[in-house]
Amino acid sequence: MTAALEGPVTVVGAGVMGRGIAYVSAVAGAEVRLVDVDAGQLGSAVTRIGRDLDAGVERGKVEAATADRARGLISTTTSVAEGCTGARLVVEAVVERMDVKHDVFRTAEANAAGDAVLATNTSAMSITEIIGGLDDPSRGVGMHFFNPVPKMKLCELIEGLQTSAATMDRAEAAARAMGKQTVRVQDLPGFATSRLNALIGNEGMRMLEEGVASPEDIDTAVKLGLNHPMGPLEMGDLVGLDTRLDILEYLADTLGERFRPTNLQRRLVAAGRLGRKSGHGIYRYDDDGGRLDGPSDLGRRS
Ligand SMILES: NC(=O)c1ccc[n+]([C@@H]2O[C@H](COP(=O)([O-])OP(=O)(O)OC[C@H]3O[C@@H](n4cnc5c(N)ncnc54)[C@H](O)[C@@H]3O)[C@@H](O)[C@H]2O)c1
Repeated sequence: MTAALEGPVTVVGAGVMGRGIAYVSAVAGAEVRLVDVDAGQLGSAVTRIGRDLDAGVERGKVEAATADRARGLISTTTSVAEGCTGARLVVEAVVERMDVKHDVFRTAEANAAGDAVLATNTSAMSITEIIGGLDDPSRGVGMHFFNPVPKMKLCELIEGLQTSAATMDRAEAAARAMGKQTVRVQDLPGFATSRLNALIGNEGMRMLEEGVASPEDIDTAVKLGLNHPMGPLEMGDLVGLDTRLDILEYLADTLGERFRPTNLQRRLVAAGRLGRKSGHGIYRYDDDGGRLDGPSDLGRRS
């Protein structure tokens, strides 16, 4: 039996990841404040969390009473300061941009409880740099969840240069209360997961650009031939092609040119084809993120 999750928990950013982190926090019994500057994102996050709770109950993963209680534990606001007031744990899940994360961390520190853990869900960026602007950076840490958060078992814990041992232990206890297994990773770009995932995804995109095979055949080859549960192109659509583009740019600047994103990736993002969350990326999706039938329009044209 894991210990209860200490609340209030504030999740800043109500996109693909923020809504999942809010879900697991509420299921773990904490009061959750979900924050986003975009009110529309908050509305759709609450709808999706409700549907995910229903699905969790149907699949026998969540007790009906736990799901009902979780619904009542989540509130929303468009003000980061208001959402962070008195929080014991803040998990930042905004866009993968250093300047935006710095702003959120400054506001979180000014408003959260004096002993709050301030965590970032960044996929790849330096924890040391993200928490570097805090008055007390020893409370900052990386808590890297995976998509979709309710289903994925791992939370990578990343120790910034200034992170205290007590903060690491509290972040670990929080992740475990959310039902996650943890690994501890040093603060190097891309950690132990995104570094590999981004490289494989980028190579898949490069193969598509070179016309090696259709998107469906590249994904099928990797799933059936290499035993990956998802192909690299469908994984890119799941992550979000815009988020992946930001991750690749950062990894190219920090780890080397092998991570430099393709022109195809840049063009898809410029066209608003962001993957599941926008309904169209490499493939097409319905409003619930379900894949629509029919071949990708990026197939070989030869
Ligand atoms: N998508 C993934 O598979 C995945 C997996 C692990 C980690 N991450 C990381 O999680 C973070 C969020 O990614 P995502 O996929 O959920 O992105 P997303 O684009 O789905 O959502 C980001 C949200 O942040 C909001 N936002 C932007 N600026 C804000 C601000 N100043 N204050 C409050 N909200 C703000 C946006 O309105 C948007 O709703 C990124 O750092 C990303 O690298 C993503």
